[in-house]
Amino acid sequence: AGQSMWGGRFSEATDAFVAEFTASVNFDKRMAHQDIQGSIAHATMLGECGIITPDESRQIVDGLNAVKGEIERGEFVWSVALEDVHMNIEARLTALIGDVGKKLHTGRSRNDQVATDIRLWLRDETDKILALIAKLQAGLLDLAANHTRTIMPGFTHLQTAQPVSFAHHVMAWFEMLSRDYDRLVDARRRVNQMPLGSAALAGTTYPIDRTITAKLLGFEGICQNSLDAVSDRDFAIEFTAAASILMMHLSRMSEELILWMSAQFGFIHIPDRFCTGSSIMPQKKNPDVPELVRGKAARVFGQLNTLLSLMKNQPLAYNKDNQEDKEPLFDCVDTLSGSLIAFADMLPNITPNSENMRAATLKGYATATDLADYLVKKGLPFRDAHEVVGSAVALAVQKGVDLSDLSLAELQGFSALIGDDVFECLTLEGSLNARNHIGGTAPQAVEAAIERGRVRVQGY
Ligand code: ARG
Repeated sequence: AGQSMWGGRFSEATDAFVAEFTASVNFDKRMAHQDIQGSIAHATMLGECGIITPDESRQIVDGLNAVKGEIERGEFVWSVALEDVHMNIEARLTALIGDVGKKLHTGRSRNDQVATDIRLWLRDETDKILALIAKLQAGLLDLAANHTRTIMPGFTHLQTAQPVSFAHHVMAWFEMLSRDYDRLVDARRRVNQMPLGSAALAGTTYPIDRTITAKLLGFEGICQNSLDAVSDRDFAIEFTAAASILMMHLSRMSEELILWMSAQFGFIHIPDRFCTGSSIMPQKKNPDVPELVRGKAARVFGQLNTLLSLMKNQPLAYNKDNQEDKEPLFDCVDTLSGSLIAFADMLPNITPNSENMRAATLKGYATATDLADYLVKKGLPFRDAHEVVGSAVALAVQKGVDLSDLSLAELQGFSALIGDDVFECLTLEGSLNARNHIGGTAPQAVEAAIERGRVRVQGY
């Protein structure tokens, strides 16, 4: 019983299975770097506040740096008997520097320690993820810049609707990612608040100065209530929610890439290095990366649900339930990062097949709205114009031709307002060029959107 860190009040040792079952070191050792960072700041503050002597503070900091070196070199021996990352590091510190190591935990609890570690870890990971989003967005801008005049069908209900440029579609993805970026930046503000100093739940009796620790750790602010600080994980939920929305976006993009790569669409080429073959069908080239990202979105949504469910019944303050926050959060970060790395590499390298896109656009009467708009501009009310064009489309369908293949005489049979200037608005280029306003698909408008996008990404 005297073996463990809390031996004093116990009369028998922890059951071997229970020790294993309650341990978290196998996964929370991933926060070792942040744990040491937090401990160094805490020991420094204890020294500066005269709670331990400057010499004791120095010994502890040196010892912690030595432990850090052992971990970095892979020499550190992790022990499940020591339960978690915090106790493993503290035990090793004391083994290295002797009894003074036991003073590190003065005025601190694992409850505020772990909350601090997770926030430091998540802050670092959020920054890496933001950089990946920025890289993906920069790639999309380059892709779009080459295709402001590559015309494809825009869809509603997955039926050909109106012509758009491939660049316009890519820039829609860019916009989705811009909001994801902003959401993570915003969530990061609430991640970046310091729980340390809350101790177990009520604060501590020592004359600590939390502003010193916060400054050393780069926290923007200090958690204002000790009960809240050790018990809430809403910052992790918020991150996972933003991650879920981002994965939902990547999954929608994936779905489009998968459809477009099929022989039936034939819209894009994805380089072989992002695809795999079939062990039985020699002809196959499968869009594995987008398919997997679409699948991984489900996994991140699941982690969000796990964290919400984990928290909903917990009375204040800390409960051991909270130990279950780490694996979902780690998995969410890993899944999101992997998906972003793959997308940032792959997307700038997809090539559209402009002939197939054009042929598909011509097949779907995509300029029917333009013809209606043409008639409106000649004085016909929109509803009547809609009716007229519907009849013209019916004739074209019956003849198996495009609207622009109908003769002027045929078109005039539907409305005397139609003149020979009509053919301009029936072309795909005419249709695109006509939508020249902020947010429209005209090449000029999309070029301006790309320019605004570049300014945005440079400002990150
Ligand atoms: N491993 C624990 C966790 O992840 C650390 C805090 C444990 N605190 C306690 N009083 N048991 O939450």
